[in-house]
Amino acid sequence: MAFEWKDRYKLDIEEIDKQHRRLFDIGARVYDLAVLNDSYDHYDEITQLIVELLDYTEYHFTFEENLLEKYNYGELDKQKHEHEFYVRKIKSISSKDIDADQKQATLEIVDFLSEWISSHILFSDRKYAVYFKENGINV
Ligand SMILES: [Fe+2]
Ligand SMILES: [Fe+2]
Repeated sequence: MAFEWKDRYKLDIEEIDKQHRRLFDIGARVYDLAVLNDSYDHYDEITQLIVELLDYTEYHFTFEENLLEKYNYGELDKQKHEHEFYVRKIKSISSKDIDADQKQATLEIVDFLSEWISSHILFSDRKYAVYFKENGINV
């Protein structure tokens, strides 16, 4: 299932884990709406949630980048590039995609967003968590 939080995403940095979880919560709400098979058009709700997802994603990325900068993390630029890519992806979701007739397209996008953020946390974010730990940085 798309945007399903798993314990292995935990980095043991309380505030970061909380923010990551929230990203999954919002994403799961988008997914739930997108797969609903009722006769209603959920276009407005989905659009609204995509905006919420974008806002919170930007908030989280900025928070993370500031933290990495503060502790001189060597791969900050790589993080920034990856974050920019993801924000652009969310922004590229057009109203056409979430039209009622475009259900499949919406699901594919949501699936992509979910896969991307999962592997970003598992590989890129985990690296800074290890860096913090190895350097005795408690955030
Ligand atoms: Fe990140
Ligand atoms: Fe993150």
